[in-house]
Amino acid sequence: MNILLIGSGGREHALAWKIAQSPKVNHLFIAPGNAGTRQVGTNVPVQATDFPAIKNVVLANNINRVVVGPEDPLVNGIYDFFKNDPLLQNIPVIGPSKQGARLEGSKDFAKAFMARHRIPTARYKSFTAATVEEGYRFLESLQAPYVLKADGLASGKGVLIIHTLEEAKKELHAMLHGMFGDAGKTVVIEEFLDGIECSVFVVTDGADYKLLPVAKDYKRIGENNTGLNTGGMGAVSPVPFAGDVFMRKVEERIIQPTIEGLKAENIDYKGFIFFGLINVKGEPMVIEYNCRMGDPETEVVIPRIQSDLMELLEGIVSCDLKNRLLEIDERTVAAVVLVSGGYPETYGKGKEIKGLENQLSPASVIFHAGTKESEGKTLTNGGRVLAVSSYGDNMKEALTQSYKTAGTIHFEKMYFRTDIGFDL
Ligand code: AMP
Ligand code: GLY
Repeated sequence: MNILLIGSGGREHALAWKIAQSPKVNHLFIAPGNAGTRQVGTNVPVQATDFPAIKNVVLANNINRVVVGPEDPLVNGIYDFFKNDPLLQNIPVIGPSKQGARLEGSKDFAKAFMARHRIPTARYKSFTAATVEEGYRFLESLQAPYVLKADGLASGKGVLIIHTLEEAKKELHAMLHGMFGDAGKTVVIEEFLDGIECSVFVVTDGADYKLLPVAKDYKRIGENNTGLNTGGMGAVSPVPFAGDVFMRKVEERIIQPTIEGLKAENIDYKGFIFFGLINVKGEPMVIEYNCRMGDPETEVVIPRIQSDLMELLEGIVSCDLKNRLLEIDERTVAAVVLVSGGYPETYGKGKEIKGLENQLSPASVIFHAGTKESEGKTLTNGGRVLAVSSYGDNMKEALTQSYKTAGTIHFEKMYFRTDIGFDL
């Protein structure tokens, strides 16, 4: 079987690394990929949202399955593009339809979906420029801090948490007047939830689901979760506070009603669902849905899957997921993300990465994110550059190994957090 994987980050290198190990896979292509995916497959220079170019790659290389990493192509309807094209309609896309991807693409849609299916989440209301005055009144009815969310995709920057009422009103006005472009034309205001977050992932064939390992990511740039939000600075799996009792609540109150709700609303959804959850005094609530795997969570979740990932992806395609094998490694995996100095604000690119060639420990896997190959050298090509994932018998051991491996890698202005897992 020939597979095309869409995307270019650490998540995609982890998926590519795993897919390439499958005996079912003949040839793996990645569009556009990075210097890491190149070690396990063939990169094709096509952007993730360029559907006509993706079509050409699929037809030219006899692709049998398309696996979609990032949200953009899903929210823009890559699934429907394939379904509506006579030459592509028999080639399965692993990922939801455009309608299903609205769980991530529209916060207002996601909140209304949760309300319809009684899925626990923060109390909320949505507003537009026409109803801004009502928005102010709603803010007045809430306690600080205030949570304001741009409805549409805003590259992870569309959520503001604000501490004073006055500031919240000002920001609401700014959001409704173009601060996040069209993504902010509708703003969801919701109650602030106090608790600790975790990321839960399932694969679904639309009828059943399988639960993947739970992870926790670290979004802030600075130690002790301070400073600006990033794409993610590290992750660990499993998560000590997400034990059996908590996870049973998650399945019964959140995952099952979500799958049933999608079915009841005739929404085509065959792929990954990412539940961003918060544990409020032992009770799980949904912070957000994503229609894809997380990054850097994938870099700790995928290494813990011992069985063939293609078994699950084939189960999605043939709608017999419940009969497919999923074996999980009991060990802990921890990832530390190495970023370019200055990220998430301005940073340089094109710095040579040294130390990648002399990696000996089988306990670490280095996943590439913003990297590229040039004249035999590996260069930085983004904010998040590498994710160092390591196995251990416990979190401490896994983290110690990741930090040890990180210490053997170098590029100009390399930065990483030294406190991943500090709160667990
Ligand atoms: P989102 O893009 O929806 O994941 O939001 C980004 C981050 O904002 C989340 O990971 C949470 O840390 C925080 N957040 C979002 N909604 C809430 C909420 N209702 N209460 C507390 N924190 C929140
Ligand atoms: N790590 C969070 C995300 O992928 O959205």
